[in-house]
Amino acid sequence: MVPSQSAVVSVANEVKRDDHVSVSLEIAPSATTGRGADGYITTGHDSRLGQVINNLIDNARSFSNDGSEVRVNLRRAKNTGRTGHVEDGIEIIVDDDGPGIPAHAFERIFERFYTDRPEQGFGQNSGLGLSISRQIIEAHGGKIWALNRIAHGTEGQIAGARFVVWLPSS
Ligand SMILES: Nc1ncnc2c1ncn2[C@@H]1O[C@H](COP(=O)(O)OP(=O)(O)OP(=O)(O)O)[C@@H](O)[C@H]1O
Ligand SMILES: [Mg+2]
Repeated sequence: MVPSQSAVVSVANEVKRDDHVSVSLEIAPSATTGRGADGYITTGHDSRLGQVINNLIDNARSFSNDGSEVRVNLRRAKNTGRTGHVEDGIEIIVDDDGPGIPAHAFERIFERFYTDRPEQGFGQNSGLGLSISRQIIEAHGGKIWALNRIAHGTEGQIAGARFVVWLPSS
């Protein structure tokens, strides 16, 4: 998983676009193994998981202002797995500094064909990216969800969107 993570982020940075948005990757030291990035292993379909991260980075990028940053973070986290028990796993977090997600849309954005973008050209976005991403993650026994980050010291001012992918670790 980790090699594909780094690969996805470096490819995202290499693809030249006019938006000047950079993509950063931060990997928390792995507490259980002390081996840093080596400690993050999940079993799965490498290119499918890469596709999910790519989707999230593409979305984050498209909602970012020119010159801002999209941050990808990897850390360990527990969550309720397929068995209904709390399991060890890894979390991949994609943050942007864009407008965030409207309150009415948190679950709808994962529905097929749901797309809501300012300046949407006809037929440009299918609204399939997140629903496919959810299918892929759930097929790996994981979860994907969205939230808005709140700016420090404010009463609810949105600092940007956060997408979290949790996958059981192997
Ligand atoms: N980072 C984000 N910030 C704000 N809204 C987002 C973000 N990512 C997704 N969304 C919202 O979720 C909707 C669905 O996203 P999804 O990736 O499924 O479709 P899309 O990007 O519009 O189309 P496609 O991925 O098929 O090109 C988006 O149209 C947008 O309204
Ligand atoms: Mg998309």
